[in-house]
Amino acid sequence: MNILSIETSCDETALSIIQRNQSSNAPNIKVLSNLVISQIDTHAEYGGVFPALAKREHARNLCPLLVQTLKEAGLYSETDTVASVPSALLKEVLHREPELLDKITALFTKIEKPEIHAIYVTQGPGLSPALWVGVNFARALALVWNIPILPVNHMEGHITSILFKEDYANKEQALYNIDEYHFPMIALLISGGHTQLVLVKAWGEYEIVGETIDDAVGEAFDKVARMLGMSYPGGPKLSQAALKGVPHERVKLPRPMLSSGDLRFSFSGLKTAVRYLIDDLKEHHEFDDTMIANIALSFQEAVTDVLVHKTKQAMIEYGAKGLIIGGGVSANTHITSALRNLLQQEFHGTPFYLPQKNLCGDNSLMIASAGFIHHEKYGSSAFVDPDTLQAQANLRL
Ligand code: KG4
Ligand code: ZN
Repeated sequence: MNILSIETSCDETALSIIQRNQSSNAPNIKVLSNLVISQIDTHAEYGGVFPALAKREHARNLCPLLVQTLKEAGLYSETDTVASVPSALLKEVLHREPELLDKITALFTKIEKPEIHAIYVTQGPGLSPALWVGVNFARALALVWNIPILPVNHMEGHITSILFKEDYANKEQALYNIDEYHFPMIALLISGGHTQLVLVKAWGEYEIVGETIDDAVGEAFDKVARMLGMSYPGGPKLSQAALKGVPHERVKLPRPMLSSGDLRFSFSGLKTAVRYLIDDLKEHHEFDDTMIANIALSFQEAVTDVLVHKTKQAMIEYGAKGLIIGGGVSANTHITSALRNLLQQEFHGTPFYLPQKNLCGDNSLMIASAGFIHHEKYGSSAFVDPDTLQAQANLRL
């Protein structure tokens, strides 16, 4: 069984095709193709992701990306005859995406129905216009080619992305065996839009036990990076700059909510503290590249301290038998080393799970793994009616 996965919740247009692996007793998947088009350059000049632009770029990218994905998976073939296309239906499904409508109509006329047996698509959370393009694209494919759809929660994708083995693209069994995990686990999700501590009771069963009351970690990284003169997305650049920083009396920063006693986070005060610090340094002519590196280090350590502290608390409170880290900020090795140390020093033998490096940020294989879990668990009752499927910008785990 071949499955197409679609992710468009933010600024990456991502498609992949996996093959559900029937050869073994334990169900598994093989990756046939996996492509991502990043819109970073488009959004950089706005200093953040601009939803209308994200929607336009997804609409522009999806059809050419589908063709490429099908080709790489060996599932692409053109028709000899011009296929008839249900134009009225497509017009209705894609009335808010005229550019996509034109492209997809041309595509349906040109290619044979591919050997795709299910579609997994990100339903939310994310930017509403961006999500809708992906959802409507999935609906159009599902309706015209008569393929079932399974909607996926993007945050669950960040959790299940840890299931991929190293070198997953070249493995017959791309995932670790899902039955070999011990629950409950705690998942720390750190991305541009979310900061959450999630109790993972089983695959597919989650409860948010702590989250940010204001900015997400990635958002704070990006905003502080911008104050330090780095272009969007500044998170990775800030962590790069921090490598050259040294601890300095002048750049001490607070650890917000560290002793709040609960599992809530807050990063907006930290961001404001950096703003005041920069103003003060500028006034005293002390704001230079050296100081920028020192601030980057100090900020990253403040964030790390809070994340480590709250994660530890959640692990103890819920008797966690494993720690999962997910989301774009899980690419930050300073943060992940600190969490790994926490486990080694205080939770001896408790496993630590990180996504493979290129699966930390948004991609569609994470959607494939979350869809796979639901498909395994609920079978065809996990599918929904494409006629009524809606994007949900505020979808919760
Ligand atoms: O999960 P993701 O790709 O998109 C969302 O779903 O939000 O996360 C993107 C976020 C951005 O804020 C980006 O700056 C941040 O992850 N990020 C980092 C690093 N790499 C990506 N933040 C800190 N250090 C990094 N190395
Ligand atoms: Zn994400």
